[in-house]
Amino acid sequence: MSISIPRGTQDILPGEIAKWQAIESKARELCEKYQYQEIRTPIFEHTDLFLRGVGDTTDIVQKEMYTFTDKGGRSLTLRPEGTASTVRAYVEKKMFGLPNQPVKLYYMGPMFRYERPQAGRFRQFVQFGIEALGSNDPAIDAEVISLAMNLYKEMGLKKLKLIINSLGDKESRDAHRNALINHFSPRIGEFCKDCQSRLEKNPLRILDCKVDREHELMKTAPSIMDFLNESSKHYFEKLQTYLTRLEIPFVVDPNLVRGLDYYNHTAFEIMSDAEGFGAITTLCGGGRYNGLAEEFGGPQTPGIGFALSIERFIAALAAEGVEITTDGGIDCYLAALGEDAKDYTVGLLHQLRMAGFSAERDYQDRKIKAQFKSADRMNAKFVAILGDDELKNKIITLKNMSTGEQREIELDLFVQTFKEIQL
Ligand code: HAM
Repeated sequence: MSISIPRGTQDILPGEIAKWQAIESKARELCEKYQYQEIRTPIFEHTDLFLRGVGDTTDIVQKEMYTFTDKGGRSLTLRPEGTASTVRAYVEKKMFGLPNQPVKLYYMGPMFRYERPQAGRFRQFVQFGIEALGSNDPAIDAEVISLAMNLYKEMGLKKLKLIINSLGDKESRDAHRNALINHFSPRIGEFCKDCQSRLEKNPLRILDCKVDREHELMKTAPSIMDFLNESSKHYFEKLQTYLTRLEIPFVVDPNLVRGLDYYNHTAFEIMSDAEGFGAITTLCGGGRYNGLAEEFGGPQTPGIGFALSIERFIAALAAEGVEITTDGGIDCYLAALGEDAKDYTVGLLHQLRMAGFSAERDYQDRKIKAQFKSADRMNAKFVAILGDDELKNKIITLKNMSTGEQREIELDLFVQTFKEIQL
């Protein structure tokens, strides 16, 4: 019986990997410029981390977690996102005591959510995310957004839309929350079961409901904008000033509600505006989470970050027709004719590689013509040809594959000469 790949996961084959690597290295390069350092946390965590961090009324916690009990009876969960783990590590490893604050971290790795698979939605997907912990300056919010926007732009995407919102501080949120409860309570019976249970626990999430999106009360729901207190308003205005200064266009959308509970103040999403991108257009999401470190037993620590998936990034590149150029092929293919010559190329290949070249030889006992075909498929810049006679005479023929030019080189000086030719 054949065994197939689990639903919602994918194999990334060598033909596809160049795109992944290009995005990953651009992300690392930008993190270096913006001074974010990599953190690697475990793939699984105690389930409680996500119950407390992501929030027990969210879809992620209620429906989408891969939770299991280990042999020691502990409840563990494959991480559905990276913020909770990063903040846990910040608290646990006392990074709040480091002299340089904010601590700026990034991560890249697989996340797991039991969602209904469709285009752009996987059960295992790779997130690149950053988190800046320890600063309450709206300039860092602008920096976080700018890093995400730059990553997309530098990879060649043009059709991007940034939407931002403020969820306000606790006082503003509480006032908004009461207004939402008053608004929806009288007719909550007309809403879905999820919304009914959200009413008391987290009424903001009603605004995010897909089932009751068209209900008339959704359109007249009180907006957070009317409940922001002075300091929250000021914070949001500052962020907008900084985004304008960075020449990042944005749209304020008071209905932007993120699917995780830890947010306050800034919330944002970057969407693809490309035609034919498909139903799920959100490429990246993030925001501020000033109470999260305290939730995990740490000191009051402001924080902000974002995450984006490489899968949706690649889909957006395809939708905009952006090609990722792969490398120009190998430096040298060693073609051999005859037993002794073949034996000899084992050592020669090693020498070439040790000298810093990408090089390959035949391992299938192919005829010389077929070896040339392999060299072509590998896009070899040079092919070096060695026969038993040449071996006896201590010479090797080097062919430049783009010009067709051929020359004989003294075998003992081959690697040295090959190096000189490259200069
Ligand atoms: P999120 O909105 O749940 O936020 O996910 C962020 C991004 O991960 C999405 O915009 C999307 O690109 C990608 N993503 C989510 N689910 C899937 C899926 N099933 N398949 C493919 N891609 C997916 C967070 O995860 C927060 N931790 C972001 C954050 C960081 N907030 C502050 N810091």
